[in-house]
Amino acid sequence: MRRLAGKNLVLVGFMGTGKTEVGRLLACSLNRRFLDTDQVLVERAGLPVAEIFQQYGEAYFRQLERELVAELAKQAGLVIATGGGIVLSRENVALLRRSSFVVWLDAELADLKERLAGDTTRPLLAGGVELAELYAGREHLYRAAAHVHVITTGKTPLMVADEILSLLAVR
Ligand code: S3P
Repeated sequence: MRRLAGKNLVLVGFMGTGKTEVGRLLACSLNRRFLDTDQVLVERAGLPVAEIFQQYGEAYFRQLERELVAELAKQAGLVIATGGGIVLSRENVALLRRSSFVVWLDAELADLKERLAGDTTRPLLAGGVELAELYAGREHLYRAAAHVHVITTGKTPLMVADEILSLLAVR
């Protein structure tokens, strides 16, 4: 675990790249606690993400996200799957890069389209925003936030988790 030491292991990336599933597998392999920022916020608010957006607006959701990142950056030894928009805040990126080893999970656009088709839980997709446009606006942010880039297209979550473990030189 040379590259990880006691730091948090953080997964960033676009919606549908498998952050939660891969994060769970990594936490299991590394015998670490797993957290998903969306799940924590949903539990705290007592509302699904789409409802938080609808009732209080995206800005409020982003504020909750920033508060959570500030809390998590003070902790160590966690595996954290983040919401796809976590990199929209420079403050989040700075805190995550300093406190954690950050992995960007990425996928080909056609793959993302397929994985996200018919999704009703993600408010940003419900607004009719073009997926390619959203991805294009985010790509540079993920690149700047992450220490490593992992492509998930054509791989199972287990394969992706194994690849990350190899990158961490745990075996
Ligand atoms: C968002 C991604 C979602 C969730 C919210 C906003 C985004 O998380 O945080 O719907 O801005 O990309 P996932 O990446 O886990 O779907």
